[in-house]
Amino acid sequence: MVPRPSDSSRVSDRVSRIEPQQIRVMFDRAAALEADSDAELDLVHLEIGEPDFDTPAHVVEAAHEAAAGGATTYTANAGILELREAVSERIAGETDRRIDPASEISVTTGGVEAHHLAIHAVADPGDEIVVPTPAWPNSISQAKLASAVPVQVPMPAEEGFTPDPERIVDAIGPDTAAVVLTSPSNPTGRVFDETAIERVLEAAVDHGAYVLADEVYRALTYDATPPSVASVADREQREWVLTIDSFSKRYAMTGWRVGWLTGPADVIGEIVKIRESSSSSVNAPAQYAALEALTGPQDPFEEMKEAFRRRREYVVDRLESIPRISVARPEGAFYAFVNVRALEGSSWEIADRLLEEYGVVTAPGTAFGDGGAGHIRLSFANDLDRLETGLDRLEAMVRAELELENE
Ligand SMILES: Cc1ncc(COP(=O)(O)O)c(C=O)c1O
Repeated sequence: MVPRPSDSSRVSDRVSRIEPQQIRVMFDRAAALEADSDAELDLVHLEIGEPDFDTPAHVVEAAHEAAAGGATTYTANAGILELREAVSERIAGETDRRIDPASEISVTTGGVEAHHLAIHAVADPGDEIVVPTPAWPNSISQAKLASAVPVQVPMPAEEGFTPDPERIVDAIGPDTAAVVLTSPSNPTGRVFDETAIERVLEAAVDHGAYVLADEVYRALTYDATPPSVASVADREQREWVLTIDSFSKRYAMTGWRVGWLTGPADVIGEIVKIRESSSSSVNAPAQYAALEALTGPQDPFEEMKEAFRRRREYVVDRLESIPRISVARPEGAFYAFVNVRALEGSSWEIADRLLEEYGVVTAPGTAFGDGGAGHIRLSFANDLDRLETGLDRLEAMVRAELELENE
């Protein structure tokens, strides 16, 4: 059964309107199956949204040293200055942008908090947040938590979810507070090109709306690096861009909970102010670990990216060889969003059968909003052997259900 929102009268309407995330529900169901089974179950986990690599030793060591050396107190709400300076230098190295570490950056508790604070800072109750879907579900739930209205805009599945800026522009109106532009996308791995970004920026700024550029997967791209929204924006438009980034995916640091937000000084100042009411500051040793990730040896991260690139090739080739299903080639992130419309039932039911009958854990497409119907998301944050087993099982399911034994 698809999870339902809570109807509890014991919590605020705002909170009870938030639906449990379907990815998490699927994950919990798999864990329960594993716990209940007498025999070894051998589930293949392809629902995972984090790198299957350990944080490199030099980064872990930096946290140890920082804690031993006294980094055990609160830090500035915006984060330690050294880390903000290092982020600023990294951005200057990767783009043409100069960011003032003193006023235009806040370190945050992962990209999640950056996103959450950005929405809170720019949306009043009833304002609209335009979210192209399929999308990371938090964009939708965070809008609801801020008493804003998420406006889901499905991207064209028939064109492999290539972002269609005109659909987004059509959804922008007088009530729009912000447009979420996630590139590369979770779950499709597709990216916005410069023309699409220009079009969305122009329409958003015309309406006095912000563009929330979620670029947490931008460093994990396997063809050309996609443009950063703030770099495409001209000086005036840049006043309306808030960029969300994170150490989680690019540095295999999901558990450390360090991300950052950059944008115009007045808005960042307000965001730093409201951080005092959420987490105040990010865990101090984790900030030193993040600093080391940025400034220390980069080879482990390059090796991880190469592994993801090889897996992408394998997964896309395998999926393309299975009859009646299809996949849009992901340009970044580590997900394949697979069209399984030929199979019977909703994406939840298909993911459920794949789990119950074939032992493969995936995320149903509807977890990512309306635009994800008829799809499942497979993560390639797993080693090649497990990917092979998972894809063998998916192929067996497709062939059995569609009676394609000999095709
Ligand atoms: C598109 C997107 N943005 C932001 C995040 C936030 O990640 P974190 O809080 O670990 O930085 C995620 C995590 O899955 C994501 O997929």
